[in-house]
Amino acid sequence: MVLSRNTVADAPDLVAAMTESLPHLRPWMPWATGENATVPAQVRRLGEVTASWDAGTDFVYLLRLLEGDASVVGVIGLHRRIGPGAIEIGYWTHAAHTGRGYMSAAAKAVTGAATVLADVDRVEIHTDVANVRSAAIPRKLGYRLERIDECPPDAPACAGQMQIWVWP
Ligand SMILES: CC(C)(COP(=O)(O)OP(=O)(O)OC[C@H]1O[C@@H](n2cnc3c(N)ncnc32)[C@H](O)[C@@H]1OP(=O)(O)O)[C@@H](O)C(=O)NCCC(=O)NCCS
Repeated sequence: MVLSRNTVADAPDLVAAMTESLPHLRPWMPWATGENATVPAQVRRLGEVTASWDAGTDFVYLLRLLEGDASVVGVIGLHRRIGPGAIEIGYWTHAAHTGRGYMSAAAKAVTGAATVLADVDRVEIHTDVANVRSAAIPRKLGYRLERIDECPPDAPACAGQMQIWVWP
């Protein structure tokens, strides 16, 4: 697997992966809709992703297999949306590639990348208490469960309690 910067040129492959994964993403991700899984919508969004990377605020990576047809395995991003000195990791895996350790490996790599950013002294992963598959990742990597925040559910399977996992 290789992680590379997610660019506008990836839009068609990303849309294919999203479309194939919608039933698996919809319970947890509010943006997982048919309208968003289109090339024009993703070209627009990836334009914003590119601008955020250039501005040094957010860094979004596409995961592809190294062998075969370089299938899209998932997406992982570092987002500065949780206040000064901190950065949050978000991720999703293609429905056909789950349970093989891909996202655990990607989260480990991206955690390492985040910790060397000069202005970051705290990395967080937020997982709804009902999303046990997602929480398995920070737990396994050695993140500390700092607290559970009440937070209105924004997707159908969410319980509305957000586990805040912190590194280091
Ligand atoms: C959560 C998600 C990213 C996990 O991706 P993945 O590539 O399958 O993750 P990995 O294979 O690296 O690891 C998943 C871990 O969960 C464990 N797991 C799998 N099913 C599980 C279950 N039902 N209950 C508990 N743990 C489970 C796996 O065993 C693995 O741990 P292990 O390596 O110790 O065995 C993926 O399921 C997904 O995209 N879900 C929908 C979107 C989403 O929820 N994103 C995160 C929002 S916070």
